[in-house]
Amino acid sequence: MSAAPNLLPPQLRRMREADLAQVIKIEHACYEFPWTLGIFRDCLRVGYDCYVYQGPSGLIGHGVMSAAAGECHLLNICVHADWQRRGLGRRLVEFLLDVARTRKIHTALLEVRVSNALAHWLYTSLGFNEVGMRHHYYPGRGGREDAIILAREL
Ligand SMILES: CC(C)(COP(=O)(O)OP(=O)(O)OC[C@H]1O[C@@H](n2cnc3c(N)ncnc32)[C@H](O)[C@@H]1OP(=O)(O)O)[C@@H](O)C(=O)NCCC(=O)NCCS
Repeated sequence: MSAAPNLLPPQLRRMREADLAQVIKIEHACYEFPWTLGIFRDCLRVGYDCYVYQGPSGLIGHGVMSAAAGECHLLNICVHADWQRRGLGRRLVEFLLDVARTRKIHTALLEVRVSNALAHWLYTSLGFNEVGMRHHYYPGRGGREDAIILAREL
């Protein structure tokens, strides 16, 4: 008996230019202020670590990280709502941190909106600690929103 392909867990693989139409759809479904196509293109062009989750019938999430001079920056962590709460967000962050370790990165950084309690909780449960704030960092509905800067040693 052959294994049913749709029972396989979503796999992470490198993002390609051809993925961007799907990536943008997920991005728009997940964020009120999504990244543009141009931002994703630039991330691919400059060689950031860009990964997608391949689901049974299309992409279901993505992660983007920059890494240089001993530090990595988790820039985008996103799992489509239909696939949330299955451990995929945690696996994506852990995967990117493993990629960073292979590059001899010693510190991981990220920003999270003050209103994004769920993501904040996920990151602190993965060993990130608050190291500062960026005021008015993100666009928001009634003006700008502050970002909490989180960091951890690898
Ligand atoms: C944040 C995000 C990536 C988490 O993805 P996810 O796949 O749901 O995360 P996980 O399933 O790995 O869950 C991580 C933890 O959060 C908890 N959690 C997830 N969704 C939750 C919810 N709606 N309510 C309460 N807890 C929740 C889980 O219990 C889990 O804890 P556990 O591993 O101890 O069980 C996802 O919600 C998302 O893409 N959100 C929109 C984009 C976003 O805000 N990205 C982060 C920007 S900084």
